[in-house]
Amino acid sequence: MDLVAKMSEVPNFGKKVVSISGREILLVNVKGTIYAVENECPHQGSPMTAAVVKDGYISCPRHGYRFSLTDGRCDDHPECVLATFPVLLNGDDISVELG
Ligand code: FES
Repeated sequence: MDLVAKMSEVPNFGKKVVSISGREILLVNVKGTIYAVENECPHQGSPMTAAVVKDGYISCPRHGYRFSLTDGRCDDHPECVLATFPVLLNGDDISVELG
C-alpha cells in the first residue's frame, strides 16, 4: 500500500491525480468513498481527469465509454476494462495498492 493523498485533498464528488511508481492514478471521492482508477482510458488512452462520475460509473470524456468504479468493466464494450485499485482509508490518509 502506498500513502498517496489526504482525504482533505479530494473534495466530495471531486478527483485528484496522483503518481505511484510512474503510473498516473485518479482518485475519485463519491460521498466519502474513495475509488482509485488508472488515469488512462483503455479505449484510446484519454486521461480520465475530466470524466463525468455518476451512479457508480465514470464516463470517459472522449467517446463516453462508461466504466464501473468498482471493477472497471464497461457493459457496452466488454473488451475495454479500466484498471481499478484497492483503496485503504485510515483517518485522513488515503493509501492505494497497485498490486
Ligand atoms: S478514449 Fe475513452 S472512450 Fe475513447
